[in-house]
Amino acid sequence: MLLNGNNNDKNAQLMKLVKSKPLPVHVAIIMDGNGRWAKKRGLQRIAGHRQGVETLRDIIKISDELGIKYLTIFAFSTENWKRPVSEVNALINLLVEYLRREVKELHSKNVKINILGCLKAFPDTVQREIKKAVELTSKNSGLNINIALNYGGRADIVRAAKNIAKDVYNNNLSPDDIDEELFSKYLYTAHMPDPDLLIRTSGEFRISNFLLYQIAYTELVFTPSDILWPDFDLRAYLKAIIEYQNRQRRYGGINSREDET
Ligand code: FPP
Repeated sequence: MLLNGNNNDKNAQLMKLVKSKPLPVHVAIIMDGNGRWAKKRGLQRIAGHRQGVETLRDIIKISDELGIKYLTIFAFSTENWKRPVSEVNALINLLVEYLRREVKELHSKNVKINILGCLKAFPDTVQREIKKAVELTSKNSGLNINIALNYGGRADIVRAAKNIAKDVYNNNLSPDDIDEELFSKYLYTAHMPDPDLLIRTSGEFRISNFLLYQIAYTELVFTPSDILWPDFDLRAYLKAIIEYQNRQRRYGGINSREDET
C-alpha cells in the first residue's frame, strides 16, 4: 500500500514535469516485445498480443488526457504476413475485437480513428469493421489515432510516387510542382504533422520500415530491453516524453548565439 502510494507520488511528479514543458504533438509507437513478454511467462505469443492491447488502451487514455493530438501505432506491418497463419489470424481477430469493444467509447471521447496502410489484403468482414470505425469517428476533432495496418514505409513512398506519376500523366500536376511538401500530401499521413517523438519498446534499435519519409527529424526514444510493450506503463511513457522534452531539436540548424562562434 505504502509502495503504491510512493509510486503514485512519483507518477504525479513526473506528470507535473511533463505538463510543464511543450508536449509532442504527434507520437508514433512501435509496440515491440509482445512475443517475448509471453515467452517469459511460459505463455503463447498471442497472450502477449492480448496483453499488448490492454497496454494500448492505457496509452491511448493517457495520450488523450495529456492532449496529444496524433498517436500513430504500428499494429501490423507489410512484413507481418510472414508470421504463422495462426498468429496473423489471432492479430486480426484482436483488432476486430478491440474495435467492437472500444469504438463507441472512443467516439464519445471525440477520438478520430484513421488507418495508414492498404486494407484490401484483409477479409471483407474485417475491412467492414475497420471502415465502420473510421466513418463513425470521421468528424471528431480530438485525439487522432492512426492505426498502421498492412503498412510499410517503403510501400507508402512507392504508392505516393505512383499517384504523383498518375496525376502528372493525366495533366493534373506539373513535375515542377513536386516538392517535399507536395510529396507528403500523397502519403497516408497527408495533412498531418510529422511525428515529433517515435518510441520503440523492448530494446531493439530499429525502425523496421515504419514512417520512413515522415521521421526525417523525429526524436527517437528506445526503451531498455526489460520494457517490453505489455510492460510499457504510465511511468515508462512519461519518461519517454521527458527524454524527448530534454532533447534539443535543431532540424539541421543551430540553436543559440553561442553555437555561432
Ligand atoms: C510486436 O511484438 C507487435 C506486433 C507485431 C503487433 C502489435 C499488435 C498489438 C499490440 C495488438 C493489435 C492491435 C490493435 C490496434 C488492437 P512481437 O510479436 O514482434 O514481439 P517479439 O519481438 O517479442 O516477438
